[in-house]
Amino acid sequence: MGKFNLLLKNLKICSVGAGYVGVPTMAVFADYCPDVEFNVVDINKEKIDKWNSDDLSKLPIYEPGLDDIINKVRGKNLFFSTEIENNIRKSQIIFISVNTPSVVTGKFENSSDLSNFKKCAEFIAKCSESDKIIVEKSTVPVKSADILKKIFKTIKPDLKFQILSNPEFLAEGSAIDNLRFPDRVLIGSDKDTSSIFARDLLVNVYKNWIPKQKIITTNLYSSELSKLVSNAFLAQRISSINSISALCEVTGADISEIAKAVGADSRIGGKYLKSSIGFGGSCLKKDLLNLIYLSNYYGLKEVADYWLGVLKINQFQSKRFINKILKCFNGNVNNKHINILGWAFKQNTDDSRDSPSIAIAAHLITKGAILNIHDVKVSKFNIISDLSSFWKNKGFCSEKVSEFLDRITFKKTNDIDTFNNSSAIVILTEWKEYKVLNFNKIYAVMSKPSFIFDGRKILNKSKLKSIGYKCFEIGKN
Ligand code: UDX
Ligand code: ADP
Repeated sequence: MGKFNLLLKNLKICSVGAGYVGVPTMAVFADYCPDVEFNVVDINKEKIDKWNSDDLSKLPIYEPGLDDIINKVRGKNLFFSTEIENNIRKSQIIFISVNTPSVVTGKFENSSDLSNFKKCAEFIAKCSESDKIIVEKSTVPVKSADILKKIFKTIKPDLKFQILSNPEFLAEGSAIDNLRFPDRVLIGSDKDTSSIFARDLLVNVYKNWIPKQKIITTNLYSSELSKLVSNAFLAQRISSINSISALCEVTGADISEIAKAVGADSRIGGKYLKSSIGFGGSCLKKDLLNLIYLSNYYGLKEVADYWLGVLKINQFQSKRFINKILKCFNGNVNNKHINILGWAFKQNTDDSRDSPSIAIAAHLITKGAILNIHDVKVSKFNIISDLSSFWKNKGFCSEKVSEFLDRITFKKTNDIDTFNNSSAIVILTEWKEYKVLNFNKIYAVMSKPSFIFDGRKILNKSKLKSIGYKCFEIGKN
């Protein structure tokens, strides 16, 4: 490790993985550390070509503010490439930022699928010709650092690899702000001199823009587990408020008023108390499943059951929403035209991984509804692929899936005809674009009664009711 000095000049950092985590992270690093060279590499050539595209509207992911940074630093100290080997060789610090989804079937169901993570580590080990600092950026189960140590020791016993854990805390849609002004940066390491040296080098990179008091250093396992626990706590808050929303609907209390009253207690705080159709996205559910799996693995069934409750409430919440829609149609949505507004798992992203919209729309279609699906950023291609995978996983044959898909159109919301003869509007993502639709004109072309199911609590119900709509809002009688 003596070869590394704490100066950042001539430092080269590589991220393996050019996705939602790797790219925003390296882009913000590159912006704040002009003396450091950053290379983002990926096995997916098509993705890398898009990251290199001159047309910034063609970047592979939509993340507000990312295009501006890329425009500023790409080609200066940020580069995208499929030349993984060369970039690993020339870099002193390598971030592993590959995807670690949940295992979906078999003995290890719900654990983290570490195959990309391990393959990536093996590849780094094979091509390395000098000592390296390896940073776990991907979310991984506690003790994954031990897996890395074993891989590097087995493949390259003569080189020294210092392992650091530096989990991401980026929420999609606000990832750039989360990186620029994080609540904290967490770096886990071993406590021997070389590890501390490696940790301090990474601390020095962050110190270019993060106040030192916001950089928390821990041991490796605490850092790894803190990431899972942070997401579990966020999920727990959402499930807590959603569970109470069910109680509000039967008692006449109002969940927004409760969230305000409860969140005003500074010990509780007001964030992550927005009741909705349930949390989605590639992280909260996956990390909860991982925590549940780990708790069971270590024989802590009560702990596992506790966190399982958070997931169950999440499923309960979207089921409740579907049932509410069905109930308003006396259980029969066959051949009813319904407009689905929103597919992304939240606003300001084009990501629909694990979006609650998928199960809700799929369910309505299997009950015979005819849907027009709209999203501000998610492509028609991704919507079709989300639904096809959902139905295939439920055991439907290809013919049935095509039949279901034939019941969908993808017309734009600025054309009033899109709502012709529609019986209901179902809001599933809180895009601001949906707040300003001309609900007077839309009402005129819808069939009557016209329902609005606001799964995100973004519309003014009294205004809609005065137009004539029948409204349902989560957490309000
Ligand atoms: C999350 C964590 O926030 C982030 O720190 C971590 O690094 C990755 O996982 P993300 O999945 O991008 O980020 O989105 P987040 O903003 O946390 O929202 C997750 C889901 O919860 C969304 O479906 C959102 O609509 C829902 N949500 C969020 C609510 O239903 N109510 C809330 O009050 C907040
Ligand atoms: P995340 O949200 O975790 O960033 P993404 O799927 O957006 O997940 O990005 C992960 C990226 O990692 C993908 O572009 C994928 O091609 C890449 N990847 C996965 N395994 C490897 C690997 N072994 N080597 C290089 N890149 C990889």
